Amino acid sequence: MAKEMKGIILAGGAGTRLYPLTRVTSKQLLPVYNKPMIQYPLETLMRAGIKDILIIVAPDHAGDFLKCLGSGKEYGCHFTYEIQDKPEGIAQAFLIGQDFIDHDNVTLILGDNLYEDDFSEAISTFQSGGRIFAKEVADPQRFGVVEFDANNRAISIEEKPKVPKSNYSVTGLYIYDSTVVDKVKNLKFSNRGELEITDINNLYLQEGQLDVAFVKGKWFDTGTFESMHEAICFARDRHLAKATSER
Ligand code: TTP
Repeated sequence: MAKEMKGIILAGGAGTRLYPLTRVTSKQLLPVYNKPMIQYPLETLMRAGIKDILIIVAPDHAGDFLKCLGSGKEYGCHFTYEIQDKPEGIAQAFLIGQDFIDHDNVTLILGDNLYEDDFSEAISTFQSGGRIFAKEVADPQRFGVVEFDANNRAISIEEKPKVPKSNYSVTGLYIYDSTVVDKVKNLKFSNRGELEITDINNLYLQEGQLDVAFVKGKWFDTGTFESMHEAICFARDRHLAKATSER
């Protein structure tokens, strides 16, 4: 039977860099221009045709996510909710979501990542292994960084390196086959107490099964005030341009 593509939005975390805003609500419920932040990654998944979506949230404001997004019916989708008790790493999403993933493929998107790109083709052509999306950034030390060889093939990925081997950061959308669940079961917690998505990517890389594609349009990781402000300006410009073209 053909494998389905399922979606996971990871919207837990502590959001400490956005204190004091995140003392009273979750980062992913904060407004980015005219919508709650989580609506942008949700639209990215829906635009790529994904309808079966697991939303992973932190315990504190779980009910507010349900109030905000509902069952999914309004969007022609089916939403499932799970709680991540503690922010123990992005890769933990695949442990929390193992029954949901079952034997299907899965696209994970971070709840605070905003993309201009349409991932329909990248998702519809995906068959097995892993596919991640890199983007050139000014501050690679904040992210997972991809090292390329002379033929532009990825040879390593390092999490938040002090001396980055390139300016290409791994962004917050990851496509994997269901072997990701066994991979995460065998991971050890890192020094910072997390199950690292970079370790998952390196496992696929070692198997020769990791495809590193590139983000073509704008990408925002809205976890800081500065990046959130930029994302809001982008969302506003896009909204106003669309409204003008529809007039
Ligand atoms: P981060 O921005 O790395 O972490 P954070 O959201 O807790 O923020 P801060 O560093 O300011 O405290 O996380 C990126 C995204 O992944 C964000 O949407 C939250 C999500 N996330 C989880 O849901 N669970 C986790 O265990 C981690 C590490 C991140």
